Amino acid sequence: MTEKMLGKEWTRSHTLKSALWFLLHFAIFLLIGAVLLLSNKFSQLGEFMSAQGANYLYAIFCVFLLLMITYFYFFFEDREMISGGKNIALLFMVLDLHLVLSCLIGYNIAIYARPVALVALLICILVGRKDAIFMNIIAALLIFVIDTFAVPDVSNKECYSSLIISFSAGMIAIFLASKARTRFSIVAIGLLIVIPMDIIIFLLEVTGLIGPETGAITVEPSFQRIVTQMGYGLFGGVASTILFLFVLPVFESIFNRLTVFRLRELTSSDAKILKKLKAEAPGTYNHSVMVAQLAEASAAAIGENVDYARAAALYHDVGKLHYPEHFTENQGDYNLHDELTPELSADIIRSHAKDGYTLIRAQHLPEFLADIALEHHGTMPIRYFYAKALKMTDGELNIEDFSYMGPKPQSKLAAIIMICDASEAAVRAVNARSPEEAEKAIRAVIEERMDLEQFSECDITMADLTKIRLALVNALTGVYHHRIKYPSIKYRRTENGTKGENQ
Ligand SMILES: [Fe+2]
Ligand SMILES: [Fe+2]
Repeated sequence: MTEKMLGKEWTRSHTLKSALWFLLHFAIFLLIGAVLLLSNKFSQLGEFMSAQGANYLYAIFCVFLLLMITYFYFFFEDREMISGGKNIALLFMVLDLHLVLSCLIGYNIAIYARPVALVALLICILVGRKDAIFMNIIAALLIFVIDTFAVPDVSNKECYSSLIISFSAGMIAIFLASKARTRFSIVAIGLLIVIPMDIIIFLLEVTGLIGPETGAITVEPSFQRIVTQMGYGLFGGVASTILFLFVLPVFESIFNRLTVFRLRELTSSDAKILKKLKAEAPGTYNHSVMVAQLAEASAAAIGENVDYARAAALYHDVGKLHYPEHFTENQGDYNLHDELTPELSADIIRSHAKDGYTLIRAQHLPEFLADIALEHHGTMPIRYFYAKALKMTDGELNIEDFSYMGPKPQSKLAAIIMICDASEAAVRAVNARSPEEAEKAIRAVIEERMDLEQFSECDITMADLTKIRLALVNALTGVYHHRIKYPSIKYRRTENGTKGENQ
């Protein structure tokens, strides 16, 4: 049995491979846990194993159960996440990190000093909010199981409080982090999650700690102890975000994840290639900024990712950096192509798609930016130089020698950039001022590309193309709107040198 999944077929072999990956990581997780137990002072393992060996086995079973539930959650809710070993490794590396930090800090410093929101923040930013909500529950339960069944000197009350603190701090972090737009705004989240943590710690401490076995109060409440424990809560909240800031770039780089922060940094005018484009090919830079506005409007109209569309548009023509002066938008009065044969001119022009791909890959920027730079002209002919060559020859010309080398757009996003790129140029070229003129120019751009089958390799629909056309008319007539001619006013110079308006 197979099932369509994001353009790929999900087969039994995928199920088997993903289950094996999960089992492998379960074994690694247990190994890390065992090393921590053996090396830490909190466990006199020999005594503990003989007295509470059954508890220890029970903890292993609970951890296995929670990880299997995690597997089935992703199997039914987000199969893409477990379709490759890399994504599964990402999930487990976050959980392993959580286990190590929670054990080291929790059993050596204080239970409440743990970075309880770290898993929630990392999964929210690296994977998504929905999966972060689930993983936050799993992470809180994993540590609860270890606290309760594997570690003898944590009181029951501390176990339950730690569970509630982990869960609530993680959830608050997820709700706030999904709105964060810069890395450092996460620091503020660290301070906000401390509030529920410290309320729970305060309530726990004022009622006294109950011993794990006797049920009697073993630690009497005192002002100093309450303040100290709440201080640990503050530490845990802030540590979550500080650790997040240090660890996130490592995960971004190892797993090549494109987070909202990285995307914003890549599309800032300070980004390395964009800065170069602005300095060396200012015409191309301005064109790319315009295309970015149109791509955002088009992506929003058909439900595609607006941030990705903006990034793809800003980088689509970076290949022009190789020969910026050979592109109209960067030329002054002198046209370098006047000295070249049409064949050579076409070669230079079409090479910018491939050059863009190579440049983006060389800079280790996200793959989709490189793909869209390569695909944004598809296999369209370069009409100007084809027509110029036709005038200069009596013989037959092969139009493929004057066409982009493709591939055609492979995604809706690439199709959006193709349409926006050509529409921006077309509307500017015909100097369209009214919505009707702009609509005519954009319709011609889309129809020409449909006639030449440029959308045959991506899943864009007629309904999408109509929505994009309407969004572009709206956006472009907003930019090149008709300006009112203001009446000219003649000024006369007054005696004291100031200007006065003629009546
Ligand atoms: Fe281009
Ligand atoms: Fe372009």
